[in-house]
Amino acid sequence: MAPAQLTVAPQFAPAVVAAPPADRPAPRVIAHRGQSSLAPENTLAAIAAASSADLVEIDVDTSADGVPYVLHDATLDRTTDGTGALREHVSHHVDGLDAGSWFSPAFAGQRVPRLTAALRLSAARGARLLLEVKRPQTRAAVARYVAELREAGMLDRTVLQSFDEDTLIHARDLAPELRLALLRRTLDADPVAVARELGVVAYNPDWDALAPRPDVVGDLQAAGLAVVPWTVDDPAAWTTMRAAGVDGIITNRAGELARWNAAVATSSAAPTLVPDAGLGPAAVRVAAAA
Ligand code: G3P
Ligand code: CA
Repeated sequence: MAPAQLTVAPQFAPAVVAAPPADRPAPRVIAHRGQSSLAPENTLAAIAAASSADLVEIDVDTSADGVPYVLHDATLDRTTDGTGALREHVSHHVDGLDAGSWFSPAFAGQRVPRLTAALRLSAARGARLLLEVKRPQTRAAVARYVAELREAGMLDRTVLQSFDEDTLIHARDLAPELRLALLRRTLDADPVAVARELGVVAYNPDWDALAPRPDVVGDLQAAGLAVVPWTVDDPAAWTTMRAAGVDGIITNRAGELARWNAAVATSSAAPTLVPDAGLGPAAVRVAAAA
């Protein structure tokens, strides 16, 4: 299957790699787990706070009674006041958990969002999503995620990514128009062949795996594929990634990367990193109003 173009980012085109580094467009800013340096990860507040990002990355998995939730870990322990596996708890329990207090008292009362709520908020804010389907899933679970994207009008504003190849195969089968990305912790011997086989539009490796082999970026882009490494918060690494020509950077510091990109574009000197200011209560208000 020929790879589709990742049209959420027009610069994700093969011609990019032919341009000298100084002329390449800035890597797209992708807010990892929402704006997770300012708000508790994967909450509505974190999605609302990610206004400076080009895409918002969130994670999804399913409760015991089949309700999709936005949560990174397999268990509730780290980011909520609950315990145990999400897949072993029913929605009535999960809906009542606090997913904000662990981060800051300012976010007390933030919930583990249902995917439905996260999609509704994203649609209302005009956001684009990089939706990671966590862990191996049943086809029925993937079908529910796809159905919720469709119902929310977010199918064409989302790239669905996963480490799990079966998840991508199910998604491609269920919604051929949905753009897909392959997550990798290590590089394949032939990344282009693997990406083509799966019909993805982007190959998203751990930056630590890609950094020793930056030539792989050009190989993938020449095949029409985007390259979007994760998860990088260090401006020194952003410089290296920009020189390598990556199409996007998944970061916990989305606001800072956006300002850093702007500074690079307007200055020949090393850009100054402008730290994010706290906007917790404001993000809570925006999330609550949506
Ligand atoms: O988007 C890629 C990245 O999120 C994958 O790692 O563990 O943060 O979901 P993780
Ligand atoms: Ca993720």
